[in-house]
Amino acid sequence: MRKVVIVTGSSRGLGREVALVFGRSGWGVAVNYLRSKTEAEKVAEEIMSSGGDALLIRADVGELVQAENLINAAVARFGRLDVLINNAGISNEGLLLRLSENILDETLRTNLKGPFNAIRAASEVMARQGFGHIINISSITGVKGRGGHSAYAASKAALIGLTKAAAIELAPHGIQVNCVLPGYMPTDMGEAASDKAKENALADNLLKTYSEPAEAAFFIFNLIYIKSVSGQVFNLDSRII
Ligand SMILES: NC(=O)c1ccc[n+]([C@@H]2O[C@H](COP(=O)([O-])OP(=O)(O)OC[C@H]3O[C@@H](n4cnc5c(N)ncnc54)[C@H](OP(=O)(O)O)[C@@H]3O)[C@@H](O)[C@H]2O)c1
Repeated sequence: MRKVVIVTGSSRGLGREVALVFGRSGWGVAVNYLRSKTEAEKVAEEIMSSGGDALLIRADVGELVQAENLINAAVARFGRLDVLINNAGISNEGLLLRLSENILDETLRTNLKGPFNAIRAASEVMARQGFGHIINISSITGVKGRGGHSAYAASKAALIGLTKAAAIELAPHGIQVNCVLPGYMPTDMGEAASDKAKENALADNLLKTYSEPAEAAFFIFNLIYIKSVSGQVFNLDSRII
């Protein structure tokens, strides 16, 4: 039986690369999107033609019912759930004093409530199985903070706290929960950052290089095979934290 992964927000960017690396290894992949249907269809096609199996699911992970539908649809189709990657995220720049309440709410809804919803639904399935691995994609901004990114920093810091609490609660059920900080990547989100934010991302970076989504995806895929690790935060660039 194929192993199965759900990758939230896998129509573009890092999520796309993660979905493809699992697909190339023959996994069943639930490809989740919100707005980018055409891009998500291409990801699913690429998985099917590279030896994997794909199920395309539109869901806004910030809505509990939709997150539950995402998990349930994947389990109904593939019959099991080995891995959940909470990758879907949004970022908004803006000074704290001028940040609207709407932006704060939307950022927390997507970046924190989304993973929370998906973890709740997935952990029920994984607990019944007695195994599973959940990886949350946070950011170094959640550890160090960053001017102009207060809502994003708050959401990503909270996601690290959620990772640790979930790891403690779910370990007795055989479920691992870890967190990855992928580094600054030139995805749509990365490219949308201001020039100042891009410069700052390199300033403390010992190797003076940006991170590649495909390399982060490779790390995430290999982390799945380490059975002794849970509740940890892995930084994937050369900024020392
Ligand atoms: N890029 C960076 O430099 C960087 C650095 C550190 C951490 N990260 C984190 O890495 C993750 C991926 O970032 P990225 O750079 O690949 O971003 P991206 O290129 O902007 O892609 C974001 C993905 O999230 C999906 N998404 C957004 N809101 C969603 C929702 N409510 N429900 C379901 N899917 C939703 C989008 O789907 P649709 O297009 O279909 O709507 C898209 O597939 C994020 O969590 C981000 O915070 C990124």
